[in-house]
Amino acid sequence: MTKDAYIHGTDPTEQKRLAELNRLTNPAFLDFLRLSPNDLVLEVGSGLGILASQVADRLTTGKIIGVECSPDQLAAARKTFLNSQDVGASTGRPNLQFQRADAHSLSFKQESFEVVYCRYLLEHVADPLRVLEEMRRVLKPDGRVFVQENNILVNVLHPDCTEFDSVWRKFVALQERLGGDALIGKKLFALMKQAGFRDITLSLAPEVHQAGQEGFRVWIENLIGNVAGAADRLMEFGFASRLEIEEALSGLRRFGDRGDASAIFYWNRAVGRK
Ligand SMILES: C[S@@+](CC[C@H](N)C(=O)[O-])C[C@H]1O[C@@H](n2cnc3c(N)ncnc32)[C@H](O)[C@@H]1O
Repeated sequence: MTKDAYIHGTDPTEQKRLAELNRLTNPAFLDFLRLSPNDLVLEVGSGLGILASQVADRLTTGKIIGVECSPDQLAAARKTFLNSQDVGASTGRPNLQFQRADAHSLSFKQESFEVVYCRYLLEHVADPLRVLEEMRRVLKPDGRVFVQENNILVNVLHPDCTEFDSVWRKFVALQERLGGDALIGKKLFALMKQAGFRDITLSLAPEVHQAGQEGFRVWIENLIGNVAGAADRLMEFGFASRLEIEEALSGLRRFGDRGDASAIFYWNRAVGRK
């Protein structure tokens, strides 16, 4: 994937948004993985490495490798969690590694891992089926796959924030233009079946936030960060004007300051076996 195809980019403001989203969503996702301490685990599209490092904390004889295509994200992960920019350096965390790879073509031998997962990745890749097939290929027989993805249009705000809703729909169009799919969460069952997984089970991970709670602020800042981070390209491709984007952002800020506001969303999840 080219750097420009990734809708969020990797500048420091975006990395802060992703870190905050991790803070909000990691505890539930770690429980979802139901790890055994000796599992060999692969995260595909490991971003800043925050989740992978927390997985590593749950492993004893097990190990996790995070693969990621962006040098910026990899550098941040290595610096934060391995205290090193050097790919081959030995570190104090022998059960955590980050490697550069494209999710469409993993360098691991088949049947290498007991658990393979991706989170917030398939929406960004050119060929999600191929990525899932690669994830299946590197799983051991009977190994488990876990996926959590987005369908951004299930986002419900009350009271309505129409300026935001309108630009949010344009965000879907922009992501499609960049080669991704902001609605991919609803397609997980079909994709996982096609990729050859068995015993597939779908579920949802709710985000239910109300004014006055810390998660509400984090969630609204996440939405603001998504729109602000895509602003240049929304304008460049003619999906939204500067005024529309400014109105969406100020509408969201007003929404976030209300005492009676609530935000409801869910992530789409799937588990399966090889
Ligand atoms: C939204 S972030 C999620 C990161 C991490 N999984 C998490 O949950 O925090 C998506 C990541 O996928 C990476 N990515 C996108 N396309 C990729 C590809 N084809 N191969 C590997 N990584 C990819 C991006 O660079 C980005 O760091």
